[in-house]
Amino acid sequence: MNEAELLFTQALGCDRAALYFNKRGSLNSRQAAFVSTALKRRIKGEPIQYILGKTEFMGLEFKVNKDVLIPRPETEILVETAIKIVRKFVALAKGGQTTALWPASSQVRKLRILDIGTGSGCIAISLAKFLPEASITATDISDKALETAKENAKFNNVEDKIVFLRSDLFESLAICDMRYAICVCNPPYIAAGEIDNLQPEIKYEPRIALDGGKDGLGFYRRIIKEAPDYLRDNGILIMEIGFGQAQAIGDIFRESGNFKILEIVKDYNNIDRVITAKRGRKE
Ligand SMILES: C[S@@+](CC[C@H](N)C(=O)[O-])C[C@H]1O[C@@H](n2cnc3c(N)ncnc32)[C@H](O)[C@@H]1O
Repeated sequence: MNEAELLFTQALGCDRAALYFNKRGSLNSRQAAFVSTALKRRIKGEPIQYILGKTEFMGLEFKVNKDVLIPRPETEILVETAIKIVRKFVALAKGGQTTALWPASSQVRKLRILDIGTGSGCIAISLAKFLPEASITATDISDKALETAKENAKFNNVEDKIVFLRSDLFESLAICDMRYAICVCNPPYIAAGEIDNLQPEIKYEPRIALDGGKDGLGFYRRIIKEAPDYLRDNGILIMEIGFGQAQAIGDIFRESGNFKILEIVKDYNNIDRVITAKRGRKE
């Protein structure tokens, strides 16, 4: 739906088809006030998703507010990549084959997935929804983001499948001695100095969700360094990457000596958007 359709379907409490095909009179005063206030906020640059308090991601509805990044369509590519990888292993395991990630002997166990920097919970919740085999841990450093993510998990009926944890990257997981088959992450990746030059809408989003340090790569360095301690042998790290970052992030992976890059997936604008890498065996 375009922004006008989003606004009017919310004001009228109807779907898109009804907007065009149902005969309606004028807006009542409550509806008119909603539209008027929403337009004033939008003209100032506030994203439509914050005004409506919700957005769609992977065909699911998510509550959003100023404590969480608005889920982006590009991030659906990360989710689809993770789903594809998991389904491949599940199919092999169901065919009786032992796979590196999910040995046939442990088929009864859930496949453990870790989502770092969950924000609204969009990645973790989508994976929980589409992958019945998965058990998910989702972390964020922001308590307020975690509150919203928990609400979204409940709204999408997957609260039983996800453990939410406040953590600075992997820090709170250190005591658990848990290894994950897959770690997904859409880290903050905008260079600090560039944030103020971006479109006005971005300034409404939490800076902590955007700021990737001086060159935008700070989180990749930390994650690639720390992830091996939390991934199983052959475990897979899947990360969203920013425009023009593929080469530098590839170098960080290579220099770590702990990962083999599997794939760089492009988005619909032909931009490198998701990188997947396999953790080598533990020494
Ligand atoms: C780019 S947003 C991604 C949010 C969500 N996963 C998505 O894809 O829409 C990055 C998230 O990382 C969180 N974050 C920032 N620094 C962090 C840290 N040191 N440890 C854990 N999470 C962090 C932010 O609060 C934010 O929710």
